[in-house]
Amino acid sequence: MNGERPRWAQISGWGMYVPERVLTNADLARVVDTSDEWIVSRTGIRERHIVSDERETTATMAVRAARRALRVANLAPSQVDLVIVATTMPDYPFPATACLVQDALGAARAGAFDLSAACSGFIYALSVASSFIRSGSADHVLVIGSETLSRMADWTDRNTCVLFGDGAGAVVLSASTERCGVLASELGSDGSGGELLIVRAGGSRAPANYNTVSNGEHYLRMNGREVFRFATTIMPKATEAVVRSAGWQLADLDLVIPHQANIRIIESSIKRLGLPPEKCFVNVERYGNTSAASIPIALCEAVAQGRVHPGDKLVLVGFGAGLTWAAAAVEWGVPVPAKPKPGLRVLTDFLFGWAGVRSLWRRTTRHVYNWILGPVGKDDWRGRMRQRADRLRKGSGK
Ligand code: COA
Repeated sequence: MNGERPRWAQISGWGMYVPERVLTNADLARVVDTSDEWIVSRTGIRERHIVSDERETTATMAVRAARRALRVANLAPSQVDLVIVATTMPDYPFPATACLVQDALGAARAGAFDLSAACSGFIYALSVASSFIRSGSADHVLVIGSETLSRMADWTDRNTCVLFGDGAGAVVLSASTERCGVLASELGSDGSGGELLIVRAGGSRAPANYNTVSNGEHYLRMNGREVFRFATTIMPKATEAVVRSAGWQLADLDLVIPHQANIRIIESSIKRLGLPPEKCFVNVERYGNTSAASIPIALCEAVAQGRVHPGDKLVLVGFGAGLTWAAAAVEWGVPVPAKPKPGLRVLTDFLFGWAGVRSLWRRTTRHVYNWILGPVGKDDWRGRMRQRADRLRKGSGK
């Protein structure tokens, strides 16, 4: 690491994953009182991907996206310094989903934490990761947005269940001495609007109990009209602010990648900015709103479709519960398509496989230690060993 020369955080790898199962508007119309016509005309969404296997979670999707991002970056998991997972739907209240991801990847040297800023979470995480890199505290950071909102949706509430989908997107941010990557970011919040998009129970205010469950308080609730009004105002403002911070003009932008919540919000924001529609990337029709995963998924698809080139000026911009908003100005710095190194890829795939063995080994040794040392700890472990050996000799086996 070099603490003296200016460092920049460039996107060196990217990857996405969505569950196989596709839920169309027609499927939804069989569950709630809605129609394909209503959903398409009000939101632009035609289908979304939904987890169907209970073993598929925010962490497992994050791992799949992250592996793809590491392969593109030609990076071994052990080279990652930090894993940040932006999510509203972690696997558990704790441990952090990022720790599960770190273990599954075999990123043995990495710190790991979750970041909660709802749909703005990925850009918040990108900004934090960029600061780690620019300060010299990290060289490679995995930034992941992963969500399983289908498990927070009330499938009897047509106001919300039609909007959301599941998935994960990841980028690797790596230190660079060239001025590129994340050049500026703008983060904001207005907690006075917290009630507008909320899950009321499951936290310290209303821990899970019979009443919270039977009242459906663990489901996401939303005031759609208010959120819509907020979103159409804040997206253009945040975009303008980050463009200014990066020292750019709006006309310089090559592509805006907005949070994919609703086509009407996106179109209104782009119009307010005076940008032509072709400068905006949209894929909401196929994924719905995947919250913190929506922007990295859109970025991956934009790259795959040849919409991003070295030197391009991008703005990523989002809004969400909190209320929160965030924007990042990114100058693309690496070739697309990515140039994989075949030998390294074989090694990386081996290391991904090895990560499972490593994790199993660590769990097993922990169990064995626990069995030998017992609950008291290691102070009198020799005595305990002797006792166990005596019992085994006497044939009790305990
Ligand atoms: N199918 C059919 N009708 C529906 C429906 C559905 N899935 N959901 C709501 N409706 C009904 C409402 O009940 C309402 O009926 P009413 O007038 O009889 O009460 C009617 O449609 C119109 O509701 P309205 O709120 O005016 O619709 P809208 O044009 O504002 O669109 C949203 C609703 C939710 C699509 C829109 O407000 C929105 O996108 N808001 C932002 C949401 C968002 O982005 N959230 C995530 C933030 S990260």
